[in-house]
Amino acid sequence: MTAHPSPATALPTGGSAAPLSFNRLRPRRSCLAVPGSNPRFLEKAQGLPADQVFLDLEDACAPLAKPEARHTIVKFLNEGDWTGKTRVVRVNDWTTEWTYRDVVTVVEGAGQNLDCIMLPKVQTAEQIVALDLLLTQIEKTMGFEVGRIGIEAQIENAQGLNNVNAIATASQRVETIIFGPADFMASINMKSLVVGEQPPGYPADAYHYILMKILMAARANDLQAIDGPYLQIRNVDGYREVARRAAALGFDGKWVLHPGQVEASNEIFSPSQEDYDHAELILDAYDYCTSEAGGRKGSAMLGDEMIDEASRKMALVISGKGRAAGL
Ligand code: GLV
Ligand code: MG
Repeated sequence: MTAHPSPATALPTGGSAAPLSFNRLRPRRSCLAVPGSNPRFLEKAQGLPADQVFLDLEDACAPLAKPEARHTIVKFLNEGDWTGKTRVVRVNDWTTEWTYRDVVTVVEGAGQNLDCIMLPKVQTAEQIVALDLLLTQIEKTMGFEVGRIGIEAQIENAQGLNNVNAIATASQRVETIIFGPADFMASINMKSLVVGEQPPGYPADAYHYILMKILMAARANDLQAIDGPYLQIRNVDGYREVARRAAALGFDGKWVLHPGQVEASNEIFSPSQEDYDHAELILDAYDYCTSEAGGRKGSAMLGDEMIDEASRKMALVISGKGRAAGL
């Protein structure tokens, strides 16, 4: 089969100094949350097949544990084996007193072994600009390559959602927009305590608008869109159902809070072998029909299906994701 150019092939991970446009396409099917204050979990996370790990200084880390957790994270980033994984640290949001110390300690201490900073509860573009400026200062001071560390922006309330497009375009460093359902549900008074599940009494999908708005901001700016956590960690069927919904819309991945969710996420956010094979057939058929030998036509038939330029674009997405997943 011909090798087709793809937006998501040859994806760098593990601190590659590739151009930013490539970093935005790192695989992030499964984004594993690990409390930065828990060395046992930090050890175990290294052996799990998650595409991304994020070492958390925010809500999984108690206020009194945060100062020590910063140093624990630096040690694990520098000494751990995170090969093949995108390495991210979630700092505290700008309304707290912890953010600057989180960023300075972690980036000065382990900036060369870190791919992105995740900023939670982002409400305005200025909050992204502030983080970008701080990162640039640290990179210059430390002699690191300027601009290599990316930003992942978490949308967790109504103001953040209203400003999501400005947030997405606030800095070249932004790689992903992440939906934070737990904080979001709380902030809009949604009548449910089960994160990721539909609130009782509403007959449709209560998350559709939020997910689509995040997805549009991401796609309009060539960023990735990531769905947040599902807290019923023993309910793998529930996880699968919620993950499938986000994957069907076009999201690139989802958080995993438990090893049991990793395989499910990797599978759900990869195309099936059947879809991948079909996409490759579409690309071959399109390449042939537009070639000299195929008559330079703009469309062709593949079985009962008409293939044209738009089909080629859809097939490229599936084919790129399939290759990234090793199909
Ligand atoms: C994640 O941070 C969430 O609030 O869902
Ligand atoms: Mg949150």
